[in-house]
Amino acid sequence: MRYRVWQLWQALRCDPLTVETWAEVQRVLTPAEAELFARLPANDQWHSLRVLQLLQKAGHHEPALLKAALLHDVGKTHLNVTLVDRVVAVLGGLLWPGRTAVWGDGDGRGWQRPFVVSAQHPAWGAKMATNVGSDPLTIALIRRHQEKVLAAEDSCEERLLRALQWADNQS
Ligand SMILES: [Fe+2]
Ligand SMILES: [Fe+2]
Repeated sequence: MRYRVWQLWQALRCDPLTVETWAEVQRVLTPAEAELFARLPANDQWHSLRVLQLLQKAGHHEPALLKAALLHDVGKTHLNVTLVDRVVAVLGGLLWPGRTAVWGDGDGRGWQRPFVVSAQHPAWGAKMATNVGSDPLTIALIRRHQEKVLAAEDSCEERLLRALQWADNQS
């Protein structure tokens, strides 16, 4: 619960990225990918940067993983989600956790929009990354970033996916 409130507080953060942090983004992304990143609202840019920095601190340097850290949530820009939508999504998820998957299956209209974005932004983000020419591993990590990874699955992609989810969950 405390984490959810912290997440919501982070969602209110809207100070723009500093020159140094932009330089960090540009070191990881191609110019076309950086344009995608720039579409994210400031709070999501900071979230993505925290994911990147956490991975780097933990010793991860795989380029596709670092790109996915910055781009994993770009699909959220596909639909306009307001702060009220975010509050609804957090409260809805807390009060009726079993219903969010059903609500997320809709067409993105009305009050269910934040749940649709929450469920479908990985697929939308993967499509956007494909359109700017990202590499297949980056695209796969974006597309699968909310997927449950089975313990038995231990390919390179799954190991990177676990690292991404680990950093995403605490950022
Ligand atoms: Fe996400
Ligand atoms: Fe995220």
